[in-house]
Order: sequence, then C-alpha cells, then structure tokens
Amino acid sequence: MVFFIPEEKINEIKNAADIVDLISESVVLKKAGRNQIGLCPFHSEKTPSFTVSYEKQIYYCFGCGSGGNVFAFLMKKEGYSFPEAVKYLAGKYGVNIPDGAITPEQKQKISEKENILSVNKRAMIFFSKCLAESNSGKKARDYLGRRAISEETIRHFCLGYAPEGWNALINYTAKKDRHFIVLLEKAGLIIKKNGSDGFYDRFRDRIIFPIFDAGSQVIGFGGRVMDDSLPKYLNSPETVVFNKSRSLYGLNAAKSECRNTETVYIVEGYFDLISLHQHGIKNSVATLGTAITSEHVKILRGIVGKDGKFILVYDSDEAGIKAAYRSIEIFDKGYADARILVLPSGYDPDSYLVEYGSESFKKAVSGALGAVSFLINRAIKKHGLSIDGKIHIISDLKDTISSVGDNIERSLYIRELAEKTDIDESAIREKICGIKTISGSDCISVSVNERGSRLERRIIAMILQFSEIIPEIIKRGILDNFGDDLLKSLGYDIIRQYNQGNRKPNDMVFFFDDAEKNRIAASLAICEDLWDRDGCMKLVAQFEDCRERQKDTSINRIKAAEEINDNKLLLELLREKQIQARKKRSDNLNASGGETQ
Ligand code: GTP
Ligand code: MN
Repeated sequence: MVFFIPEEKINEIKNAADIVDLISESVVLKKAGRNQIGLCPFHSEKTPSFTVSYEKQIYYCFGCGSGGNVFAFLMKKEGYSFPEAVKYLAGKYGVNIPDGAITPEQKQKISEKENILSVNKRAMIFFSKCLAESNSGKKARDYLGRRAISEETIRHFCLGYAPEGWNALINYTAKKDRHFIVLLEKAGLIIKKNGSDGFYDRFRDRIIFPIFDAGSQVIGFGGRVMDDSLPKYLNSPETVVFNKSRSLYGLNAAKSECRNTETVYIVEGYFDLISLHQHGIKNSVATLGTAITSEHVKILRGIVGKDGKFILVYDSDEAGIKAAYRSIEIFDKGYADARILVLPSGYDPDSYLVEYGSESFKKAVSGALGAVSFLINRAIKKHGLSIDGKIHIISDLKDTISSVGDNIERSLYIRELAEKTDIDESAIREKICGIKTISGSDCISVSVNERGSRLERRIIAMILQFSEIIPEIIKRGILDNFGDDLLKSLGYDIIRQYNQGNRKPNDMVFFFDDAEKNRIAASLAICEDLWDRDGCMKLVAQFEDCRERQKDTSINRIKAAEEINDNKLLLELLREKQIQARKKRSDNLNASGGETQ
C-alpha cells in the first residue's frame, strides 16, 4: 500500500480520534470491565463479543477475529482504502492535511488516478445514454431483453452500449477539450492508430459492463458482442486504477450482503453475475476472465470474515477441477470453507438460473463439496473402483492430501477417502504420509509446542501492551527462541515498529503485512492485562525456563528415536539440538555483558 500522508499527520489523527466515539456511531457499546462491548457489526451474533478499548484505542471481535485501530475499523466498515480512512478522520477531527504534505510526484499520481476515474465515469454515462436513448442502442436493448435482463438490473449495474463506428466516445468526451485524449488513452478507452497520431475507440458495438471498485468508482469496462463474432468479450487493459487480479465484478453491489450472510458466491462471467443478482442472490461476485487469486481471497475474506464461506460456481468439470486445485493452493492452509459447485453439463450459472430459478440453484449449492472432497469424488468417477482404479485414485490424490497443512484435517480426508474407496485407512495413511504414522514422540512435541506457544502468545501480548520491556526482550534474544514462526515474525515486526517510535498498541495492531498477523496482534493487544516490569520479568524467566526444559525433552526424544531405530528422526533431532547449543553459547556470551536495572 502506498501512503501519501506523512507519518506525523497519521499520528496526529490517531491522537485526535477516539475509537469509542467513532464505533459508537454504529454500534451500541456497553461498559464491561475496562473495555466496552457490543454486537459485532462484521458478523451476526446474539451475544456481544465485539470489544473496544478506550485506553488502547483498538477494537477486537472475539467472534470473527476482526480487529485493529480506528483506520482498520473504517476500512472494514466502510470499505475505505487507508488514505480514504485517513482523509475521513482528518475531516472529522479537524486535522489539517495541507496539500504541500505530499511530494509533487505523489500529487501527480493521485490526480492522475482521480482523472482516470473521472474520465471512466464520463464514459460510463455516455455508454448508458447510448443504451437508453439512441436508435442504434435498440439492438442492445433487444439483446438484453432476449437475455431476460430487467430494466432495474440495467440501471443497477449501469449497463451501457458502445455504439458502432470508430470514434463515438472520442467525439463525445474529447471533441472540445483535447486534453481528454491523453486521459482516455491512459484509461484504455481509446487506442492509438498505427502509424498516425489519431485514435479510435476500444469498445465498438458492444454491450458495456462498467467495472466498479468496492467504493463504487468506475475502474474499467467489459464489453460483449451481440453476435458470434470474436473476441466475445473485451476488457479494459490494466491501468493505474484497474488490476484484474485484484478486482472483482459486482463487488460494490455484493459487499453488504456478503457481510450479512458471511458467504460469497464466485462465478466466472459478467452475465452469470448479474443473473445471480437479478435472482436475488446478491452476495455474488465474478472474476474478470482470470482464475481466482490470493488477492481476491484476501479482499473477500475481509468482507465475509475469517469463518466466511466461499462458494465457487463453475460450469464445467474441467474448470471445477482446476479451481479445486487452485483453491487448495490459495485458500490459506487449514482454511476449509471453500466449496466447489459444478453445474450440470451444458449450464452456466446464468442459464441454470433462467431455466430452474434460484431455489433450485440454492439446493444445488447445498450439495457443493470442499475442494479435497470434490477431488476425491472426481477421481473416483474418473478411475472407478476396480483394483487398478483404486491404485490410480490414491496416486492422483497423494500429493493433494499430503499438502493439507492441518493434521486433523488431513486425517479426516484420509478417512473420507478410505470410506469412499473401501481401502484400509492405515494403508492410505502409509501411502500418503510415507512412514510417518503418529507416534509418542509426535505427541510430546505437540504438547510442548502448545505450551511454548501459549507462553509465546503471552510474550507477544506483553510487548504489545507494555512496550517498555522490548529492550530486555531484544537483549535476551527471546524471540529467537520462539518455536512458532508466525508469532516470531510478528514479534520482530513489533520490535521494528518500536524502533520506529510506534510504541502504543494502536500504533502496532494494524501495520503488519499480513491479515493473520494483524488479527493475532489485535486479539493479543486487547486482553485485559496489567503489566509492570516485575510481572514482565517473571514471564520472561518462565519462558527461558521452559526452553531449558524443552532441551531436556529433546534428549529424551533422541533416546527414543535411537531405541526404535528411526534414523531419519534421529538425524533431525540431533540437528535441532546442535542449533540450540550454538544458540546457547552465543546467549551466554551476550548475557555476560551485564544486566541493567
Ligand atoms: P455469455 O456467453 O454471454 O453468457 O457470457 P458468460 O459470462 O457466460 O461468458 P463465458 O462463460 O463465455 O466466459 C466467462 C468469462 O470469461 C466472461 O464473462 C469474460 O470475463 C471471460 N471471457 C470469455 N470470453 C472472453 C474473450 O473472448 N476475451 C476475454 N478477454 N475474456 C473472455
Ligand atoms: Mn453465459
């Protein structure tokens, strides 16, 4: 994200803003201990788990995991970008952001974006006029009519028509003012003629679908021919305001319903999308001729919440299988609720809805499977359940299932596969996980990690809430001994923030590069703890103690591995121990430097 507003201004706004005051505008808050609680505006709940801290100026919902400072709240609630949230709060709390606060290049970039958005808007108005009024628009109106698109839908999605000819849009937009030519070109709406300095319209004789961002600004267009000519669809090229891997058609119209239902349907086509909306299924978006990307998932998860459901709707087996693989790859590990629905052959969501209606569609959705289950079924269908078929099934699914990060989830899939194929579960497990079956040493390591991890979480909570202790944490190299990589990296981020002068919880709970970190940070920062130096040092000592004990356990594990002749495990453990020993030597060297206070 690019920040155009100087850090001091952001701090000034943070100091002026009051998160309780801001959130109270939309959520009824009641005092509970030192915090305020209310019903979460981001997911539906009956008992309040949405917690706001006046002291720390942050919020966190224990139900859906959403959390952060005033900016984060506004971005989530209103769909604002960070600069928009800053601008809004600056206005509200009377913080003046002078124009000179940004460099001329930054200013030019902002105004270029604004100009392109505004030329897009002009174009959209032109296209929709052409659809509504012109004679030539009749053919487009008839086409939409034949496809059962209602007047209301046309208005709702601002559908339009780009007339025939080469320069209808140029003439409308830039006839009097040539400087629009430059903008039209930057917006991808016109194309430079080969070997001359003239231009021609990109979209000609096509139905136009304006593409909006979450804040309902026009960022690009899609255009469909009305006959069989090719290409069937034409999209705006990537511009400074339009990036296909981050944009979703229909998001602005779907946003609030996605939030309410904590569910989003993802389809592939413009017509599929508007058809879903027209049939009352408004929590739907479409990708723009690209496969779904991790950026899409991030954006959508911000709206449906971390437990939200993603339902990918495809019109062919092949597309469904591709999407299933992809969804395993891009929906974070352990994130189970991406479902895949493949419609009966010959149908896409639009034609299915037109023929069978929304009730039937919803019924089909209720049978949609998670990605792995989907692939299991496809493999069975493809290979059959003969001996040979079963061998193929296992070899097809081996990599997929072993790539599932969560142990429990993986076990469940193995069981599912065993049940569906009638193959012995332990045989599948052996095939999929190699020789790695669950043993006593795994259990020890799981429980030790859990213990370590709880302490690690406490330490992160401590440094978020009582940042005075951070120099001590650095000195003792506490974070280096963290077992949990995410917490470790979060800890280093906090130290970095601290070194940059960001020392209060609300400085720190929002600035990490990843949503999961922000969530964890907010949840740990909001706990009602009273830290003082003594308490902190006790926790640090406890952590160091636990690490020592863990080293002892590692000796036991080495012995056990020797006994069962597991050489691979033995090597791993020895290597681990060596690293720890090296670490300890350097710790001792550092500690002999003496203690302050
Ligand atoms: P209809 O055939 O009108 O029902 O459209 P559809 O939305 O069902 O389209 P289809 O299933 O053929 O394609 C799905 C999506 O892929 C479209 O909405 C476009 O985003 C994209 N797409 C399809 N054809 C083309 C093409 O020729 N060029 C580009 N750039 N994108 C296309
Ligand atoms: Mn279609």
